[in-house]
Amino acid sequence: MAIDLDAAPFTANDARLVDDECAALDATHLAARAPHRLSGGEKRAVAIAGVLAMAPSILVLDEPSSGLDGVGRRRLIDLLCGLPQTRVIATHDLDLARAVCRRVLVLHDGQLQADGDPRALFADHDLLRRCHLEAPPASAPATATGGGTGNDGDDAQAPSEFAQVLIASRHNISPKRLIEPGPDAAQLATLFEAAAAAPDHGEITPWRFVIVPAARRALLAEAFAQALADRDPAATPEQIETAREKAHRAPLLILAVARLGTADPDIPAAERLVSLGCAIQNMLLAAHAMGFGCGLTGGQALGSPQLRELFALADGETAVCCVNVGTAVTHKPGRVRPDAAAFVSSL
Ligand SMILES: Cc1cc2nc3c(=O)[nH]c(=O)nc-3n(C[C@H](O)[C@H](O)[C@H](O)COP(=O)(O)O)c2cc1C
Repeated sequence: MAIDLDAAPFTANDARLVDDECAALDATHLAARAPHRLSGGEKRAVAIAGVLAMAPSILVLDEPSSGLDGVGRRRLIDLLCGLPQTRVIATHDLDLARAVCRRVLVLHDGQLQADGDPRALFADHDLLRRCHLEAPPASAPATATGGGTGNDGDDAQAPSEFAQVLIASRHNISPKRLIEPGPDAAQLATLFEAAAAAPDHGEITPWRFVIVPAARRALLAEAFAQALADRDPAATPEQIETAREKAHRAPLLILAVARLGTADPDIPAAERLVSLGCAIQNMLLAAHAMGFGCGLTGGQALGSPQLRELFALADGETAVCCVNVGTAVTHKPGRVRPDAAAFVSSL
C-alpha cells in the first residue's frame, strides 16, 4: 500500500506511516496478506489506510459501503466518523451519509436537488421519492453530527424502542469535539425541564445548574489556570494554557452543583447526589434526542477555592461536573457497555 512505482525509494519513515495507519484502522494483521486473500471490507480498510498514510487533508470516497456486510459497513461508518479530515463521499447509502456527514447535496438527473442538513433532507419523503432514494431506517435519534432537529417522528417507532435506542446510542463526546451551534434558548429551556423531572426524595431539588456564557468563559479559564498553578507549582506554561483552554471548548457549558448538606429535611447526601445524576442524565438524553453531542467533565479544579469563589458556592454545595453540549464534529465508536451479569446479582 505504500509503493510508489516512479518515486523515491521506500524509506523508514514511509514504513512507520504505513504501520501507524494500519494500527489506527485495526488492519495490522492484514499487512502481510496477499490482496486476493482479503475480503471486500478488509480491502477497503487497507485502501483507506494507504490513502491516510499520505496525510491528506481531504478524503474523497466513492460508494465506500457498497458490497460490505453489516458488520463491515458499521465498522466503516465508525472509522469515517472518527477521521479528522474533510470527507467528500458520493453514496446512495443514506444511513451512512446521516451518520458521517454534516452537509448533504442531493443530485438527480445531473442537477442539484437539495443541499442541507442530512436529517432534514432525509425526512423530506417527496424529495427522496423524486430522486429515487429510500429513507434511511429509523436508527439512533442523533447519529449525525450537528445540533439539529433530532428524530422528527416521521419514522413510526414504538416509544419503548425509541427510548432504548436513545439510551443506548448516547455516548460521551469530549468537549474538544463539540462546536457551534449549541442549543438555542428554547432547546435550553427543554434541557432544564428534563432536569426538573429527576427523582427527588423529599422534593428538595438538592442541586442547581450554572450556565457559563461565552462572555464569562475567560473568568472560568482563569480559575482553571490558577487552580492548577496552586495545586502543582511545577506545572508548565503549556499545561496552564491547556487548563485555561478547557473553559472555551463547548458552545454550552453548564456547571452542575450538588447541595449535599443534609439539614431540613434530612435527606442523605447519597440520595441528593443520585438525584443530581438523574437530572444530568435527563439533560444528556434530551440533548442527544435533539441531535446534539454531550460530554461530562470533572477534575480537581472543580474543588478549588478559585472555582468555589467564582460560582459563589455555599457551605454544603459541591461542584460535581460540567455538562458540555454542542454539535459533534466527529463520533468515536461508543464503548462496549458492561454486561448486566457483571453488576446484577440476586439476594
Ligand atoms: C461526574 C462525571 C465526570 C466525568 N468527567 C470526565 C472527564 O473529566 N473527562 C472525560 O473524558 N470524561 C468524563 N466523564 C465521562 C466518562 O468518562 C464517560 O461517561 C465514560 O467513559 C463512559 O462513556 P459513555 O458515557 O460514552 O458511556 C465523566 C463522567 C461523569 C459521570
